Amino acid sequence: MERTYLMIKPDGVQRGLIGRIVARFEDKGFKLVAAKLITVTEEQAKIHYAEHEGKDFFPELISFITSGPVFSMIWEGDDVIALSRLLIGKTKVGEALPGTIRGDFASHTPLNLIHGSDSSESAAKEIANFFAPEELNKYNKDIAAWI
Ligand code: PPS
Repeated sequence: MERTYLMIKPDGVQRGLIGRIVARFEDKGFKLVAAKLITVTEEQAKIHYAEHEGKDFFPELISFITSGPVFSMIWEGDDVIALSRLLIGKTKVGEALPGTIRGDFASHTPLNLIHGSDSSESAAKEIANFFAPEELNKYNKDIAAWI
């Protein structure tokens, strides 16, 4: 079973969108493995965005992601990495289609509400950057048993 790292960015937390964004992934049927509200440290931010170091927007990226609390999550499911990115929508809000999180809620490109891992390698690195192994919950998700 595949896992991905998702992070509701400071703009999503400030705008009170945590519940509505989380609902998109619950509605899709993915399984929440871990979640917490944290303030990203400078060190975590630089590890998280290491591939963008040297780009002109790097300083802005680091200062934005450390500017306030983020909602940090691990989700599990079949093809959850690619499907989460479909639910999130394109990075540039002008290209994000209606029906996606960014298409429905974001109106400025750097303020694009949520990050999602782009590969299994990135997911493993990002999960390790933000969670200790004991923070991952093990449980069966069986809706039929609860209704
Ligand atoms: S690139 O150069 O094509 O790889 O970059 P891109 O995939 O478009 O964006 C990588 C992440 O950087 C964020 N981004 C920005 N943040 C702040 N300011 C500016 N100008 C900016 N431009 C891009 C973008 O939202 C991506 O963040 P994540 O968290 O990966 O979605």
